[in-house]
Amino acid sequence: MTDSQRVLVYGASGHTGKFVVAELLRRGIQPIVAGRGPSSRFPDLPQRTASVDDGPGLRALLDGVAVVLNCAGPFLDTALPLATAAVETGTHYLDVTAEQPAVQQLYRELDAPARSAGTVVVPAMAFYGGLADLLLTATLGPETAAAEVEIAIGLDRWWPTAGTRVTGARNTATRLVIRDGVLAPLSVPAATGKWDFPEPIGAQSTVELPFSEVVTIDRHLDIGTLRSWLNTAPLDDLHDPDTPAPERGRSAQRFAVEVVVASGAERRRGTATGRDIYASTAPMLVEAAVRLLDGRYRGSGALAPGEAFAAAEFLRAIPDADFEAGWH
Ligand SMILES: NC(=O)c1ccc[n+]([C@@H]2O[C@H](COP(=O)([O-])OP(=O)(O)OC[C@H]3O[C@@H](n4cnc5c(N)ncnc54)[C@H](OP(=O)(O)O)[C@@H]3O)[C@@H](O)[C@H]2O)c1
Repeated sequence: MTDSQRVLVYGASGHTGKFVVAELLRRGIQPIVAGRGPSSRFPDLPQRTASVDDGPGLRALLDGVAVVLNCAGPFLDTALPLATAAVETGTHYLDVTAEQPAVQQLYRELDAPARSAGTVVVPAMAFYGGLADLLLTATLGPETAAAEVEIAIGLDRWWPTAGTRVTGARNTATRLVIRDGVLAPLSVPAATGKWDFPEPIGAQSTVELPFSEVVTIDRHLDIGTLRSWLNTAPLDDLHDPDTPAPERGRSAQRFAVEVVVASGAERRRGTATGRDIYASTAPMLVEAAVRLLDGRYRGSGALAPGEAFAAAEFLRAIPDADFEAGWH
């Protein structure tokens, strides 16, 4: 690793940040660990600090850094200031936001500046957001349009982190779906349904609950109707204040993500399965960082995951023994 390939993890001390630092080290990349305050968690790694309301501090934080991985949420607070500093310093930016308005902000504010700077800003490179975006892109193959798409996420349980709870409370924006080809508010009350996930999740009750994938998909694909579903069982965990935070290492939580593309009578399906939505985010995010370092990405500007990276190849390359993805 040369100095021109330095990677910095912002929010490294959080639950997700720790998985990301461990995955970078596993892949032979020694990151700079960073956050709004000092942390004693990584005594052997170089450390920098700056708060998100300190523009010059953020630019100094990114001095000599090639790619910044933002793991500090709520992203409605951190994404725009850190991504702006990244564009200003010629640094590629990735984050793991599930919040739709945080992605919209970056697309709106930073696409043109990032193009001018020749840098890439890819929000939502994570379980919620990027995974469905990549899976849909892979399922569509060379096509870029579909009349109807459904995305369904099934979790056997959810042990939410403090960051997940704070982020959920901070994000009060009306959720968006795609209707008649454009972003539109989710109908209230949200629709409910049923979905047959692969085992061990199985048949589940679901509710329409879109995340950041709607905004990333709208960024680069032409979809008539997009509906996103989550099974209701993990939402009961999330809404119960007594549900504990996840244990330190990878948890036993199982997930399945399905994408169904309907064009006339034809149905195509993409499926991804794995273990622990927080731990699984790390190999995805780090794979993106590695590709930004070695040049395996397309274009510049504020981009969707499936726009910046070759989706099918990316999904097959994710180095995670618990993760499987396929489409037909
Ligand atoms: N899209 C996805 O699938 C996905 C996957 C994983 C995580 N996430 C999101 O990632 C975020 C972090 O989750 P987590 O599970 O790692 O939570 P966590 O363990 O509670 O960690 C939160 C991290 O964010 C930092 N932070 C919070 N507010 C900040 C601010 N205003 N300025 C700077 N740093 C700030 C914290 O720093 P301190 O230590 O200084 O408090 C900590 O490092 C959440 O928003 C979560 O929703 C999304």
